[in-house]
Amino acid sequence: MERYLEGLRGQAVTARVAGWLPEAVARPALHARLLNALARMEYVGVRKMLKARRAEGLDVDGLQHALEECGHALRLKKAALAVAGDAAAAVATFADAHCLGGAAGEDYLQAVDRACEALLGPDDGEVNYLLSSAVIELRALTFYPLYERALRDAGVGPSLKGLLADEEGHLAEMGRRLAGRERLVERALAAELPAFEAWEAALGAAVREGAAAAV
Ligand SMILES: [Fe+2]
Ligand SMILES: [Fe+2]
Repeated sequence: MERYLEGLRGQAVTARVAGWLPEAVARPALHARLLNALARMEYVGVRKMLKARRAEGLDVDGLQHALEECGHALRLKKAALAVAGDAAAAVATFADAHCLGGAAGEDYLQAVDRACEALLGPDDGEVNYLLSSAVIELRALTFYPLYERALRDAGVGPSLKGLLADEEGHLAEMGRRLAGRERLVERALAAELPAFEAWEAALGAAVREGAAAAV
């Protein structure tokens, strides 16, 4: 999985994200909505996982994965409320207006799901789970370290250390379970890129809009 991470880290879209993250982190009103948007993505990820997997295929790792992603949603949500402070009502729910980029995060996850389904066919729910999880974990492990760096540079919370350790564990598990299916992972990553570019465009535009309004 390491070589895929290298590939994603070198993409132009990754550099664009690194460009607007400090802008978002510097403004609490934007930052709270970014955290809430990320919490929503973690939550929607859990919901998809629970819907896609049948009880007879679910083992302890599957339960652990769902629990940890739900934990990420809660931690990011609490961080959004803390950053918002007196304006906590602005990030009270996962409504589009409460999330930076509106529904872009949800659209991204739906697009990844559909792309994996197009590669595998509708009946392969378990492999779809592994493949879409692997792709999303690779993107998470490209995005969250950049975000962590922007947070440390700005001297603001939260710390993403625990979340990053969890995501590394999930990616390693998906890598083990997808061993020998590298071609499939490559095709899924190629299909994921335009979906992530659309997410980045929405978030980048929302950050620029928010920064301009604050001037
Ligand atoms: Fe997560
Ligand atoms: Fe994960």
